Amino acid sequence: MISRTAVVYQVYVRSFLDGDGDGVGDLTGLTAGLDAVVRLGVDAVWLTPVYRSPQADHGYDVADHRAIDPLFGDLDAFDALVAAAHARGLGVVMDLVPNHVSDQHPWFVAARAGGPERELFHVRAQPNGWRSMFGGSAWSRLPDGAWYLHLFAPEQPDLDWSQPRVQEDFASTLRFWLDRGVDGFRVDVAGGLAKDPSYGEVRRGGPHPHWDRPEVHEIYRSWRRVLGPDVLAVAEAWGPPDRTAAFARADELGQAFAFEILRTPWSAAALRRTVDAQLAAHRAVGALPAWVAGNHDVARVATRLGPERALALHLFLLALPGAFYLYAGDELGLPDADVPPEAWQDPQSLRSGGRLPNRDGARVPLPWTSGERVGFTTGEPWLPVPAAWSGYARDRQEADPASTWSVLHRALAARSALWTVDDLAWEPAPPGVLVGRRGGAVVVLNASSRPCPLARLTPGAVVARSDSHADPAVVSPSECVWVRAGA
Ligand code: NOJ
Repeated sequence: MISRTAVVYQVYVRSFLDGDGDGVGDLTGLTAGLDAVVRLGVDAVWLTPVYRSPQADHGYDVADHRAIDPLFGDLDAFDALVAAAHARGLGVVMDLVPNHVSDQHPWFVAARAGGPERELFHVRAQPNGWRSMFGGSAWSRLPDGAWYLHLFAPEQPDLDWSQPRVQEDFASTLRFWLDRGVDGFRVDVAGGLAKDPSYGEVRRGGPHPHWDRPEVHEIYRSWRRVLGPDVLAVAEAWGPPDRTAAFARADELGQAFAFEILRTPWSAAALRRTVDAQLAAHRAVGALPAWVAGNHDVARVATRLGPERALALHLFLLALPGAFYLYAGDELGLPDADVPPEAWQDPQSLRSGGRLPNRDGARVPLPWTSGERVGFTTGEPWLPVPAAWSGYARDRQEADPASTWSVLHRALAARSALWTVDDLAWEPAPPGVLVGRRGGAVVVLNASSRPCPLARLTPGAVVARSDSHADPAVVSPSECVWVRAGA
């Protein structure tokens, strides 16, 4: 069982470690890399989708929810991964994609040919004004001229969740993976499953026609009955804290990502506001937030904030009540790679003609070993790895006590014994500085441009700090420090 305050390591499987030399990360590679995950000190791994898929959206277009794509391996390789993870005390979280399927899914193939499976999708004689998240209309045409809905790419037709067959099929999918030993699910586009049956246009006020509608919560209550109380589930839902935290109710998914932090500027006041709003919204439903500093959909945190602040933000979020999801590569402090347009793979930027951000830069394969080939694959990596990334390689960082990896490693080792109390109380602090107390431990974040003498803020012993070269008596600008109070 994965605790609701666990640290979960998000593996973008394509880019973690390639076991067969085809340039794409896979399950054998991930299994081989598990010891490195254990050394880092996290509690569980979340795998981005590895199901059978034509990869139009890198696996978020699923053609068979109960099969592994040959690109990543097979069910035997999956079972071996789960066994190896459990043997090392790591939980395994699958990525579930319920909002849409691939246009190659047998249901949609039959629907396109005019079969009764059409009722499993949103097929209409006329489109409405709904927009795709990847740009343009959310409607495309079937060969006979009817229109089908896709909130993402045209290769990702949306399912109609009012259909019992859709609901039953997903319950079978949940059982299938639970029987194979999976410990949790990250739920893709969690807020999108229920659509307005009258397909009304987007209007101010009242429920949105396809985001976070009241009916969607009924779906997750039915899932929780299948999952039982112990299986972790986390909602990928973007929106105001009270709306997203609603998915974290105990009889629903139990956890929801606190994405707002990704859009919060580097200011003590703004960070405090976001943290307070998330904690309040979650507490109102009896839950704690799932904090994130990055994922495969946004620019890497080291690029958004710069390397020092990125590491300080990690320590800050790891000190808060709740869970933390660590995006693979952020423990190495990787920045976004500058992927040349001719190498772009992301449907979001290709479909929008570059108008929407390119997500490839945050998805580039990880550097394992210093040296020219960086150890991810013996073949050609699916996205080019910058030559300079040898300097970020895991082997080099594990050997350097001042590296990003080592800072996080020490913090992860100290985390659960230090932060035992769920309450967070802010203490008086100079402008630009946050001092948060949880029982006998204190987190200090210096978002100002001046060093701050530690003794003036809080007495105690430093347990972890994000700047290994800092003067021990101060909290440097852009630094986060953990203190065991009272000494
Ligand atoms: C969210 C996923 O994280 C993203 O990568 C994907 O493109 C969309 N959902 C659609 O499934």
